[in-house]
Amino acid sequence: MCGVIGYVGSKPCARLIFDGLKRLEYRGYDSAGIAVLDHGKIDLVKAEGKLVHLEPRLVELPGGATMGMGHTRWATHGAPTARNAHPHLHGDLVIIHNGIIENYRELKEQLIKSGVEFKSDTDTEVVLHQLHADLDRKGDLKTAIMETVKHLRGAYAIGIIHARDPGKIYVVKQGSPVVLGAGNGENFFGSDALALLPHTNRAVFLMDGEFACLTADSIDVWDFSGKPVRRDPQVLNWSAASADKQGFKHYMLKEIHEQPAVMSSMLSRLVDLKSNSFVDKETGIDALDLGRVKNVAIVACGTAHYAGQIGRYMIEEFVRLPANVELASEFRYRNPCIDSSTLLIAVSQSGETADTLACVKHASERGCQVMSVCNVRFSSIPRASDAVLYMEAGPEVGVASTKAFTAMVLSFYILSLAIGEKMGRMGPQAHARLEKSFDAMRRLPSLVDRAVNAAGVIEEISHKIYESQNMLFIGRGASFPVATEGALKLKEISYIHAEGYAGGELKHGPIALVDRHMPVVSIAPRDSQYEKMISNIEEVCARQGRIIGVGDLEDDRFRSICEHYIPCPQVDDDHLQAILSVIPLQLLAYYAADMRGTDVDQPRNLAKSVTVE
Ligand code: G6P
Repeated sequence: MCGVIGYVGSKPCARLIFDGLKRLEYRGYDSAGIAVLDHGKIDLVKAEGKLVHLEPRLVELPGGATMGMGHTRWATHGAPTARNAHPHLHGDLVIIHNGIIENYRELKEQLIKSGVEFKSDTDTEVVLHQLHADLDRKGDLKTAIMETVKHLRGAYAIGIIHARDPGKIYVVKQGSPVVLGAGNGENFFGSDALALLPHTNRAVFLMDGEFACLTADSIDVWDFSGKPVRRDPQVLNWSAASADKQGFKHYMLKEIHEQPAVMSSMLSRLVDLKSNSFVDKETGIDALDLGRVKNVAIVACGTAHYAGQIGRYMIEEFVRLPANVELASEFRYRNPCIDSSTLLIAVSQSGETADTLACVKHASERGCQVMSVCNVRFSSIPRASDAVLYMEAGPEVGVASTKAFTAMVLSFYILSLAIGEKMGRMGPQAHARLEKSFDAMRRLPSLVDRAVNAAGVIEEISHKIYESQNMLFIGRGASFPVATEGALKLKEISYIHAEGYAGGELKHGPIALVDRHMPVVSIAPRDSQYEKMISNIEEVCARQGRIIGVGDLEDDRFRSICEHYIPCPQVDDDHLQAILSVIPLQLLAYYAADMRGTDVDQPRNLAKSVTVE
């Protein structure tokens, strides 16, 4: 959840570290701090709140310092105050940490008994004092780190500087993400590659149970037993520019507008639109033994979970195998019926979400084949999977996921068609079905472009609803997960309470909430559920609910029962339509939040990458 970054080289580094933290701020933003080492002395500054509060304090750091590290926090243990902000310093040692030390209470008690005085309420400070004690006993930092990790339970990515060992930064990884960046005469580490991109596109990925020592000219890696590990840098294909706002007011708006290009580039990589075939190497299915697959389990969190729900419908339709979709945080603590005949599909933009990663490991242990659908290359979930479909949607910085959602839905569409075809499970109509699907995919990017460019009408409608306290979203079929995703978008960035329901479920309870004050966003594309959905919408109208319709431009019948109507391009495919229907909801949430003056890209209490359980 938190963001960490470090630098060792020959450049003045305080500003460089601060700028890196800005690129990581989406990971956590309730407090921040930077420590630098200069002439054998550690200086540090910390501030409560977002990075803007830290910026004026940079002048307090020595301008000539050429090594240091910074941290932006999403509080887990201890309130988000300057006192609890990282880095944490004791004597000559300073550390930053992302993750959770699960056994911090027992370690803390032991340390207190041995006379240690704690200055913060964090679990991190336990690591600091344990390391300090081990350093006193062992005499050198590398050996002390190997000793300290034996005491720690939980997840951590830790950066360590020792004033008596200048020119070196140690980085330790167990469970939390961290990437090393290889430069010329300078080296870096960061929570993810985004922070390093302005400086280098050569990344060294530490595995769990490994630690590294960075100097300006070297990167040495060992496992926790001290055995050297050889790890060559990988070249990243993202550019620093792809992570900039590029003139948009917010990352979220920029990312919404990137969707047509994302759809195009995914299609040109994952399918051959000329020969109506799939590129198995890119979809990842060539790495699977499909003959073994008898059922599918989809796991994910947040927005990815809603994409997974649409994915389930697609797997059932095209592969005709039982498919379940579940929240990763629930799945991992049950005793699910999975075995070697199960294909587990883990969906994650970041590839780092702790619960989803745990499901992947759990399923592998139970003999399942694991496929992941991810955006960030070399992240933990793909690394732990048998097969990967990379979305390559480019960096998503806005905490509210937009382009990753539509990229996930398209991934499932391609994946389920490709698996269905390869397993021969699409029945006698396979050829016609595939022709129809490829035709729809060919038209998709321009339709997505039209959906994105309908922003004007949506902005106007947002004016009418942005002061609402509650809203409902309803849909049927693939539009049901779209409704829940629309409600999630709205609540997470505008703080308007919103719920998504299946149209048919409304009269089992939620319709009691409907009165003339309740906006009900109703998604009714011209799909196989259209008639049933219109009936559900009529039921809301009969109770004076304020209908905001999302439907076909030409659909005068639907339009006539709506207070406001958002025309949405139609693609004549129930599943792919979800990609088009969600775009107006993304824009509605965006404008409502902006009108309410919230922090759209970094909504309160949230973080983009949830690397703790
Ligand atoms: C967080 C983010 C969401 C995201 C979810 C899953 O809650 O704020 O936008 O959908 O994590 O993240 P993942 O990276 O696994 O898709």
